[in-house]
Amino acid sequence: MVGEPELEGWNGGRMVRAEVDTGVVRGNLERLRGWLPRRVSILFVVKEDAYGHGLLPVARAAHGIADWFGVAYLHEARALRRAGFEQPILIMTPPVGQSLFQAIREGYHVPLGDSGMIPEIEAAAARACRRALVHIEVDTGMGRFGLLPEEVDQALGVINPDRAEVVGVYSHLSSANGRSEEDLEFTRAQVWWFRQVLQEWERRGIEIPWRHLANSAAVLAFDEATASPLNMVRVGTAAYGYPEGPAVPPVELVPAARAWTEVAAVRDLPGGWPVGYGHTYVTPDARRVAILAAGYGDGLRPELRQVVIRDQAADLVGKLGMDSVAADVTGIERIRRGDRALLFGPGVCGHQGWICPVLVPVLLSAHRRWTS
Ligand SMILES: Cc1ncc(COP(=O)(O)O)c(C=O)c1O
Repeated sequence: MVGEPELEGWNGGRMVRAEVDTGVVRGNLERLRGWLPRRVSILFVVKEDAYGHGLLPVARAAHGIADWFGVAYLHEARALRRAGFEQPILIMTPPVGQSLFQAIREGYHVPLGDSGMIPEIEAAAARACRRALVHIEVDTGMGRFGLLPEEVDQALGVINPDRAEVVGVYSHLSSANGRSEEDLEFTRAQVWWFRQVLQEWERRGIEIPWRHLANSAAVLAFDEATASPLNMVRVGTAAYGYPEGPAVPPVELVPAARAWTEVAAVRDLPGGWPVGYGHTYVTPDARRVAILAAGYGDGLRPELRQVVIRDQAADLVGKLGMDSVAADVTGIERIRRGDRALLFGPGVCGHQGWICPVLVPVLLSAHRRWTS
């Protein structure tokens, strides 16, 4: 449990603190490992400072469970190597220019972000005097990186095996965390399409060692996304304890982080009184409002609509400011300046499609502490 540390004097006076329990991350990973078939390896996605949970503490917590790591950028891969992690690392955002050259030279795995990247990879590999380790991304409906299913054959044919070894093939699901019938259909179609590509390659005797598709939501809800010949999953959110998706998670996943700010003012406002920029909220009657000491400058996003103060939920009202936001605390007994307002934590998180974009920026700018 979190203590009541002094807020003053840390992080240049910023008023958001976070505590990450790395033991919780490990517990989540252990349960995911237990749930997944043995033949499936785990690529633990630790990009963006492990979704704000802290790259190195979280990577250490995954000892013996994470077979691979997935990062966004070269500097994250290097930080893991410098800290002694020996697992293969996939840099999931296709590196550009000098970063691509260095990634290849240092032996990190890179995705094929588009077909134009093939000659770049080959030139960088020649310069680095080292074969590039490449994962072909098949775009089955994310519309981000990769090649269309009908383009991948041609790419396989033109990649010079002296310059690049195709170590992996993967696809990324855009809607596996959705619950609507449309999302379910879309995910099933993506899974089907990717499996078609793999089947066709298998039929023609093309063997690619690593075949991966499932993100957290797919691991929890779409068996076909982990069934053979797939042999790796890329998990992030579930390991941090924020399950999303159409099904009740088959394993217990516990949120690893909590973040909070403090109440900077308690105001009793009359009915009809505007709150915040643009007077978008007007008190319907006499209301007690707490002004919290955090805003978009601390990574808060307008999607965050509730906090917990003195164990009670309080709706945020009015527009989010740069360093403040208002909560309707009418009826919360004994509220006072300095009270903790929990932004995330058990009982606060769990809204659909919401966690990553809302939690990550807050954790990244918070003053963090780790326990295990
Ligand atoms: C390519 C790719 N795979 C897997 C993941 C992990 O997704 P999740 O956090 O939903 O498990 C991400 C994260 O954004 C990703 O970009």
